[in-house]
This record gives sequence, structure tokens and C-alpha cells, in this order.
Amino acid sequence: MAIERTLSIIKPDAVAKNVIGKIVSRFEAAGLKIVAAKLIHLSRSEAEQFYAVHKERPFFKDLVEFMISGPVFVQALEGENAIAKNRDLMGATDPKKAAPGTIRADFADSIDANAVHGSDAPETAQVEIAFFFAGLNVYAR
Ligand code: TYD
Repeated sequence: MAIERTLSIIKPDAVAKNVIGKIVSRFEAAGLKIVAAKLIHLSRSEAEQFYAVHKERPFFKDLVEFMISGPVFVQALEGENAIAKNRDLMGATDPKKAAPGTIRADFADSIDANAVHGSDAPETAQVEIAFFFAGLNVYAR
């Protein structure tokens, strides 16, 4: 199985609920290793750039407002199948549809304030890690 890296964001709603540690514990328990991490407050232009793929979607403006409403905790996670593993731990985008025991089922309030982001493919993981952690060698272990 491939060792991968993925980008995780603990979003402003979860940071405000003081559950960074609880969420990070789930990553660690699943065998994902934190290889970079920082707590930051995104600017509007950073949030717009990060979610540029959604700029034509009706929820884009609200998504950007939400992502800049407070600090976020950004991590690069490494491990076997890290991208899919992180998405499994996160659960479905809409917490009402997220499987019991997933991060979104346990900590998210709504589809727009849904606690976590995780890269969805190797290509996006590489771009997203570089966006937040320029200079981190994505392929080195
Ligand atoms: P998406 O990439 O579809 O989901 P995921 O985060 O599970 O990869 O959407 C990105 C974010 O956009 C999502 O986490 C929350 C927000 N969003 C909405 O606010 N409303 C929506 O209807 C959708 C689909 C997403």
C-alpha cells in the first residue's frame, strides 16, 4: 500500500469548539502521522484561492466567509493510504449523512460548517500541501 501525504484542515467551527486535540487523536489512532502543522487565520484572498475550484458554486461566498470566521488548524498527514483514510475518518460532507463515529458525525453542525477538510486525490493533496507548507518535501520520508 502506498505511503501518501494529505492536507487536513480543522475548520473554524471545530477550532471554536476546542476539539482540535480530539480530532488529531483520531488521525493518530488511525496511524496517520503529523508531518507539518500550524494554527492560522486565513485571509479572504487565501480562502478564495484555496477553494477556487468551487468559485462558480452557489455556496462559494458563504464557504469563504465561514473559512475566515476564525482560526483553522492545518496539517499535512502522512501514512498508508492517507488520502482515503483521512476521508473515511472525516465522513460525508453533510454531517446528517456522515456515518456514526466519523469526525463530521460527531463534531460538525451542518454541511457548510462541517469541521474538517481533507484532500480528495493525490494531485490535490500535492497542491494543497504546497499551498500551506511551501518547501515541505512532499515525497521525502
Ligand atoms: P466538497 O469538496 O464537495 O466536499 P468535501 O469537503 O467533503 O470534500 O465541498 C467543499 C466544501 O464546500 C464542503 O466541505 C462544505 C462546502 N459546501 C457547502 O457549503 N454546501 C454544499 O452544498 C457543498 C456540496 C459543499
